[in-house]
Amino acid sequence: MRGRLLRGGSCKAKTVLLGGLKDHLKTIRQSRRIVFIGCGTSYNAALAARPILEELSGIPVTMEIASDLLDRQGPIYREDTAVFVSQSGETADTLSALEYALENGALCVGITNTVDSAIARNTHCGVHLNAGAEIGVASTKAYTSQIVVMAMLALAIGGDTISNQARREAIIDGVFELPNKVREVLKLDEMMKDLAQELIAHQSLLVFGRGYNYATSLEGALKVKEVALMHSEGILAGEMKHGPLALVDETLPTFVIATRDACFSKQQSVIQQLRARKGRLIVMCSKGDAASVCPGGSCRVIEVPQLEDCLQPVVNIIPLQLLAYHLTVLRGFNVDQPRNLAKSVTTQ
Ligand code: AGP
Repeated sequence: MRGRLLRGGSCKAKTVLLGGLKDHLKTIRQSRRIVFIGCGTSYNAALAARPILEELSGIPVTMEIASDLLDRQGPIYREDTAVFVSQSGETADTLSALEYALENGALCVGITNTVDSAIARNTHCGVHLNAGAEIGVASTKAYTSQIVVMAMLALAIGGDTISNQARREAIIDGVFELPNKVREVLKLDEMMKDLAQELIAHQSLLVFGRGYNYATSLEGALKVKEVALMHSEGILAGEMKHGPLALVDETLPTFVIATRDACFSKQQSVIQQLRARKGRLIVMCSKGDAASVCPGGSCRVIEVPQLEDCLQPVVNIIPLQLLAYHLTVLRGFNVDQPRNLAKSVTTQ
């Protein structure tokens, strides 16, 4: 992952250089806001990257699902930087949103995995993922690569200030630690297969996340839905009491992402409340935290290696991708080509 992803950019000497963006960084830093635009998994990756971009740039970052922006004809200004995130670079809604943003005078940045795709060609500047061709309909390696590239984008836009130096260095160190952490988390394969076996006959799976891992909950649920053809819903844990809690009982499997970050104690409290409703819990936590997230051992715990918070979603999605894979195989479906779906959605 490291060699490919970093080919077009560089993290050496603890600075980030993204060749395709360097001439536009000044304009991006002067933007009134940054708008992320994408569909499906690409939207989820941008959502995972939003907090670090806000933190390091200090610029408001808003999110747009491409079709919804077009349906509303939402406001886009010439002082905006619009970032188009697309694995294929050919998604019809994202491409139409790009045309719309160009007409409205925004600086348009592309983050794609396909050199010479329509989005790569028609944006003013951009970054290529270098994740390698993604063949299966379900986006997996593009998702994790998109998050890393967008963290690097945040570092590039944020610039080198004394006040953020320690944070920047920790993130850059984290990028170099990623290959080992990913190798480590892939060892959970058997555990996820066992879990898939347990869940195979269930109708639905709820996934609660927040902060950096709200996106993980949406993306994990999307994978389960898309390939295993099982209903699944990613839920912002802060919204739990505003409706979803009514669904929780001893029969419905509920997956909670509670790795260490600024939201950890809030997630501990979510777990307690779900346990009080006799929820059938599966908890993902950082290594060594099993006892604190699940005292008394009443839930299934998946421990993952810990990483800098903004990179943690890269590690956290992998057990959910493995779960979706095993559920699909066990349910007898095609993991590469789910029914009714195309790899690239080129019609609206
Ligand atoms: C992901 O698993 C899906 N196949 C889908 O949501 C996809 O991410 C979406 O269609 C956007 O595609 P793009 O990244 O090529 O624009």
